Amino acid sequence: MNEVGKEILIAKTDIEKRVRELADTISRDYEGRELILIGILKGAFVFMADLVRQLRIPCQVDFVRLASYGTVTVSTGNIAISKDIETSIEGRDVLVVEDIVDTGLTLSALVERLKKRDPHSLKVCVFLDKKDRRKVPFEAEYVGFNIPDRFVVGYGLDFNEMYRFLPDICVIGEN
Ligand code: XMP
Ligand code: MG
Repeated sequence: MNEVGKEILIAKTDIEKRVRELADTISRDYEGRELILIGILKGAFVFMADLVRQLRIPCQVDFVRLASYGTVTVSTGNIAISKDIETSIEGRDVLVVEDIVDTGLTLSALVERLKKRDPHSLKVCVFLDKKDRRKVPFEAEYVGFNIPDRFVVGYGLDFNEMYRFLPDICVIGEN
């Protein structure tokens, strides 16, 4: 248990180790190239900040904001972008960075949208993956941790905007 009484699922030290491993893999895969990281606000901001500081390749960062989870019906090819990226990705190597993939609806729709802008390549890096919950097929190229179907907070992830600041990934509720 931590200070707000949540059950820790992934501890800070394990997160740090895994982020370093992911950054090593990504740095190797993109050696000699330059990346644009696109973080999905708000949840990805902590992961993105940690990841970018461990990369050993030149990169730019940008952010996209989508309509918030649960308040809008999301279906493939139809997502509301409330804040678009401010960089042209045409001909560029793009890595979308997200906190968690759940049903897969958000990321599959966003990837389709971004591919229409003709990037040279487009891959996805998610910190957490709840594979059991997919409604559409979706595989991220880089995955931090596979987790069971529990609602998690911390490390950027929130419950009603709370707990994003927690350094560990914690489980809340009784699911
Ligand atoms: P999809 O479209 O894959 O959506 O269902 C992924 C989005 O769902 C939110 N999400 C969570 N947020 N704890 C959270 O704080 C969770 O356990 C969780 N599961 C899904 C999240 O906003 C993500 O971007
Ligand atoms: Mg999110």
